[in-house]
Amino acid sequence: WPFYAPLIFEINRLKKEKDAVILAHNYQTPQIYHGVADIVGDSLQLAIEATKVKQSVIVQCGVHFMAETSKLLNPEKTVLIPDSRAGCSLASSITADDVLMMKAKYPGVPVVTYVNTSAAVKAVTDVCCTSSNALDIVNRVEGDTVIMIPDQYLAQNTAKKTGKKVITWAGACEVHETFTAEDISELRHAYPTAKIIAHPECPPEVIDAVDFAGSTAAMIDWVKTTKPPRVVMVTECSMSDNVASETTGVDFLRGCNICPHMKRINLENVLWSLHTMTEEVTVPEGIIPPARLAVERMIEMSR
Ligand code: 13P
Ligand code: SF4
Repeated sequence: WPFYAPLIFEINRLKKEKDAVILAHNYQTPQIYHGVADIVGDSLQLAIEATKVKQSVIVQCGVHFMAETSKLLNPEKTVLIPDSRAGCSLASSITADDVLMMKAKYPGVPVVTYVNTSAAVKAVTDVCCTSSNALDIVNRVEGDTVIMIPDQYLAQNTAKKTGKKVITWAGACEVHETFTAEDISELRHAYPTAKIIAHPECPPEVIDAVDFAGSTAAMIDWVKTTKPPRVVMVTECSMSDNVASETTGVDFLRGCNICPHMKRINLENVLWSLHTMTEEVTVPEGIIPPARLAVERMIEMSR
């Protein structure tokens, strides 16, 4: 931390000078999450908070689709991402043409799109969802069948809880798809007294084997309210680091993977981004209204 202090100090000073706010996802490193972020949260919380921002500049510490969502909700503001290469295996698994093809194959079936997608994909779909409201949104759209894209596992995990037929796409999160039921039984064997919790981007057999599954914010809330003496968070590694420094009496055990995309963002490039006002995130004008509508419908349906 002493090594980070000058960078943190300078970023916080520049934020005021540039009239900027930093939105950071729960998977950002503790030095970003605790040191420079103004607002932290899961994808839904960040999208909602983005609608309330007063500052003229948003620096998104997260991956590209999150910065695009902020831009969609604030087209008049400058949205910066410290490294535009911060992608997502889910967002890159599907294109707008793929969605149009699915719509042609299943005419009239509503399309529920995970926010982990490009603005172009959002623009051709009916409503977005995040891991925290997926079940609600699927239940609330009309009809007894939905297309849920692109995460096959989030879709399968949701399908197990809704009475509707869920048509899936073959996308997966490269961080969560590698966890297996065997991993969970090994963790149970190694740490018999620990609670094990996981993100719903994990395959269904993993979700079936854990004590709780939820969005990144739901997992944090669960740990803070349940206060298990020992816990394994089966998700991105920074989650435990961030919650550990806010929680006493809980032992955090390792059972995580690193998201290389989230980890492209660091204090150095956050500082550079504010200093140079780069890299600006833009969305083609024609795409903004329909993509924004899909995100706004989600926010409205989550109230
Ligand atoms: P949350 O919406 O739960 O924060 O998930 C975002 C994400 O990218 C998880 O991998
Ligand atoms: Fe995408 Fe997975 Fe990284 Fe989340 S953890 S940003 S879903 S690759």
